[in-house]
Amino acid sequence: MTATYLDSDIQEILRQTEPELKALSGHVVLMTGAHGFLGTYFTALFAAFNRENRKQPIRLIGVDNHITSRRPEDFKTDLPGTRFIEHDVIQPLQVPETVDYCIHAAGIASPYYYRKYPLQTLEVATLGAKNLLLFSRNHPLKGFLYFSSSEIYGDPDPKHVPTPESYRGNVASIGPRACYDESKRLGETLCMIFHEQDGVPTKIVRPFNIYGPGMKETDYRVLPNFASRIKSGKPLRIYGTGRQTRTFCYVTDAITGFIKTLVQGGPGQAYNIGNPKPEVSMLDLAQTITEALGRPIPIDQVEYPDSYPADEPQRRCPDIGKATLQLGYAPQVSLKDGLRRFMDWALTHYRGE
Ligand SMILES: NC(=O)c1ccc[n+]([C@@H]2O[C@H](COP(=O)([O-])OP(=O)(O)OC[C@H]3O[C@@H](n4cnc5c(N)ncnc54)[C@H](O)[C@@H]3O)[C@@H](O)[C@H]2O)c1
Repeated sequence: MTATYLDSDIQEILRQTEPELKALSGHVVLMTGAHGFLGTYFTALFAAFNRENRKQPIRLIGVDNHITSRRPEDFKTDLPGTRFIEHDVIQPLQVPETVDYCIHAAGIASPYYYRKYPLQTLEVATLGAKNLLLFSRNHPLKGFLYFSSSEIYGDPDPKHVPTPESYRGNVASIGPRACYDESKRLGETLCMIFHEQDGVPTKIVRPFNIYGPGMKETDYRVLPNFASRIKSGKPLRIYGTGRQTRTFCYVTDAITGFIKTLVQGGPGQAYNIGNPKPEVSMLDLAQTITEALGRPIPIDQVEYPDSYPADEPQRRCPDIGKATLQLGYAPQVSLKDGLRRFMDWALTHYRGE
């Protein structure tokens, strides 16, 4: 069975979220997308908490339909306080328990897969969200966390980079990325409707490029792509000019931000979660990987492949002032340190293309 997270990372998140995990203790959390990259980290975190808190565990009901995840048999089933349901959240969901918190992390997040499954991408973010919000109306919910995306900002006007939550976006409704961007936007609208009309305590997170151990080699987002090429001894492929920028947030900082938002975030509020420093071009990213690994990595600049949706945002960098002020969120892991942790894991577990 592949290790899909680092125990040291889980210990780090436990330390950073102690008061929030105490607030979740003794409650039931329903989480969709439980077998995805981020869902796996949440699951491991709650299981680690439960090992030390057997009397008041966080009881997790994990839901996934495995459309893009590892296979169900690749996951441990005997985690303390946890059970899994195979279910497509586009269909209504029933569970016998009274649920206290909901996390809607199911989604199709990689451009490769949302091009392959455009309708499922749109439906999980919208119909999936609506089903969970309808479900939530019948439970005395303390928090509903909706996973939106930084992609809702589209290709931001450079005047609005770093991008605050108040920026309204520059998104094409019929472009090749619309199934993802527009459905996440509509998912946010659904959250606001259920918050205003039914009092569901919805909190929205907009993650900015999260990475870390556990990302599948066939995820096809930039860092798994790079790690797979390094493993196979091939040069890194950089699409286009390589000058498009991103920021990268290591998974321990991201999960810390998500847990803080779930517990402390204001109902009806949206929060950017990411690491604004440094904003790097793809060429800079390749250079930082070279430094993190301590050896030169060759680069190949190529045309965008057909499988990659056009209209790539030119810049992406969060303004995290709101999360810092309201939640005390402050990313700790530098890009070089995070890349070292991810690459060590990936070069051990990936097979190479
Ligand atoms: N990781 C990031 O950098 C990032 C950035 C922005 C937004 N997000 C959002 O965060 C969430 C989690 O991201 P991730 O990186 O863990 O993605 P992931 O692809 O690793 O995991 C998503 C999981 O959702 C499951 N899923 C998809 N459709 C489903 C359905 N209809 N019913 C049940 N399960 C379904 C998939 O099988 C997968 O296990 C997603 O909603 C994604 O859009 C992630």
